[in-house]
Amino acid sequence: MFKIINSIIMLVLPIIPKSLIKIFARQYVAGTTIKESLAIVKKLNDNNLYATIDILGEHTKNINEANEITSNYIRLIENIKKNNLKCNLSIKPSHIGTDISNDIFNENLNKILNKAMVNNNFIRIDMEDSTLTDISINTYKSINSQSLGIVLQAYLYRTIRDIKNLKNNSNIRLCKGIYNEDPNIAIKNNDKIDENYLKLLKLLFKKQIYVGIATHSEKLISKSIELINEMNINRDSFEFQMLYGVPMEKTINILLENNYKVRIYVPFGPLWYEYSIRRIKENPNILKYVIKNILNKIKEALL
Ligand code: FDA
Repeated sequence: MFKIINSIIMLVLPIIPKSLIKIFARQYVAGTTIKESLAIVKKLNDNNLYATIDILGEHTKNINEANEITSNYIRLIENIKKNNLKCNLSIKPSHIGTDISNDIFNENLNKILNKAMVNNNFIRIDMEDSTLTDISINTYKSINSQSLGIVLQAYLYRTIRDIKNLKNNSNIRLCKGIYNEDPNIAIKNNDKIDENYLKLLKLLFKKQIYVGIATHSEKLISKSIELINEMNINRDSFEFQMLYGVPMEKTINILLENNYKVRIYVPFGPLWYEYSIRRIKENPNILKYVIKNILNKIKEALL
């Protein structure tokens, strides 16, 4: 059923007016400006939630653009500090330069990281598709800073080796992985990904590595809590992370009531349209989620 709906939407996607798509995107995107995104972070903080901001965009081809994005991240750090917000940054390597050269990526990442260190903030390298896994992990390891973390994806077969090779002072966000990867390198079955997720989480805990448990899956969240209890993991060794706009209020409230730390990933930026369309084309599953959430809202309104 979803496959048919997906195919129809994919066909009509190019002719849907931008204004209509904006209505749906608004739920998941925190505006187009720094000011708008910070206002949302403030609201989240007021509700005892931490945040991480991402400027939407990827695969920057032009050096001036990559430098401008870098400056915007630096401006964000200044504003987070000025407004005393509980918020760090999430950055896609290809957004700040990997498509131009590894040197440009390194240079820009270091500029942002230095600013973060001075301002007592933290940068997380988001993980993109598998063409960028090596450069992202190698750069992360070579910098070796407590103010820098990275994302690892449970769908990749290589992730277990990557974790085994990490130092204990690493800081990892563990997610399932969003890109459409080749079955030779990635697990395709959702239950098997969940299984691997828990196995990797256990290994991260064993290695005493700080983990951002990034998932909306109720099953994974409760299994993670079981594991935390079983292994007697300290509450300052992990946090839960979710994407802005995904309707998780009930679960978030339960987590907060039980004194777990929860961080919301807040994406914003002028390129929201191009970014959303490209990501939907790459992975129509995102549409499945959006449709499911809309149907749930309609169902709740009717009950
Ligand atoms: P699952 O796919 O089983 O989803 C559970 C339920 O959550 C769905 O049924 C749906 O209701 C809801 N849901 C999930 N994703 C949704 C969405 N986008 N919109 C609306 N509803 C949604 N991936 C990656 O490759 N690199 C990265 O750097 C990151 N970073 C990242 C940060 C954070 C904070 C999160 C939460 C996720 C990521 N991801 C990511 C995405 C991640 O890899 C994964 O694809 C999605 O989170 C979906 O998987 P779940 O674990 O949520 O479970």
